[in-house]
Amino acid sequence: MAMSGRMMGGLLGGALLAVGLAQAQDDTFDEYRSMFGDDNPAIFIVDEGSELWTQARGPENVSLEQCDLGQGPGVVENVYGQLPRYFEDTDSVMDLEGRLIHCMVELQGFKREEIIEGIYSGAGDNGTEMEALVAYVADASQGSKVAVPQSHPEEKAAYKAGEALFYHRAGPYDFSCATCHRQSDKRIRLQSLPNLTEAEGARATYTTWPAYRISQGVVRTMGWRMRNCARQQRLPELQPGSEAVVDLLMYMGVNAEGGSMDAPGLKR
Ligand code: HEC
Repeated sequence: MAMSGRMMGGLLGGALLAVGLAQAQDDTFDEYRSMFGDDNPAIFIVDEGSELWTQARGPENVSLEQCDLGQGPGVVENVYGQLPRYFEDTDSVMDLEGRLIHCMVELQGFKREEIIEGIYSGAGDNGTEMEALVAYVADASQGSKVAVPQSHPEEKAAYKAGEALFYHRAGPYDFSCATCHRQSDKRIRLQSLPNLTEAEGARATYTTWPAYRISQGVVRTMGWRMRNCARQQRLPELQPGSEAVVDLLMYMGVNAEGGSMDAPGLKR
């Protein structure tokens, strides 16, 4: 279709305006963020998570200190950047949220459906236990390198499946994750979109989630973020700890290899 000069001008003008506004929003965020200084309110939620980890809870009245997140029972240091991974006891690849659910069910006797039901806080709610636990575990990995394992065949298979899912177009708009997350310097409704298919973008993302969302006043996890994206895509709801979630995380995590963990992050 031929475009008149005016149409072109209008389109370009709109695009430039969007970039300008996005810049302004970034500046506002930076200002906002500088008010917090080095203080990330997530530290309070990390403390809550630490208490939840060590408290005897649930029908079995035990703590999570025997929970194995991949480096042996009770070890929380430097596990985040090495998840998802294959676990022998379940013969499956699991991400952090899935593994925490597993431990809360198997060790503490909580009901799986109930944990999943209340896993992420809604608008205006206080944070959930899962959000606090994930913040605590991520915090204990600060400064460690992202090194999501690819040695077990199941881990390799999860990466392949995650990659396929990332590029799989579905839903009424025929979007895939890649539609929005394959290019660098792309924006949607004034938000910058990370390119999750290459190291730079994947690292920036993987190392900064979970994150304290200033606009929402709670810590959000990567599982929550992905669920929201899938919702925008009008896909069926992504279930925490499900194969689809694990595969997608495996894909992004491996792409982020070598990044330095800096979570909980602080996001608008
Ligand atoms: C319609 C466009 C769109 C689609 C499709 C989409 N996303 Fe997103 N995604 C976004 C937007 C917008 C953001 C928020 C960016 C921001 O807040 O700065 C985002 C953010 C993210 C983030 C956090 C990035 C960061 O560094 O903070 C992850 C992870 C993510 N998406 C994963 C996915 C996955 C996995 C899929 C496929 C299931 C997907 N997205 C599909 C638009 C999309």
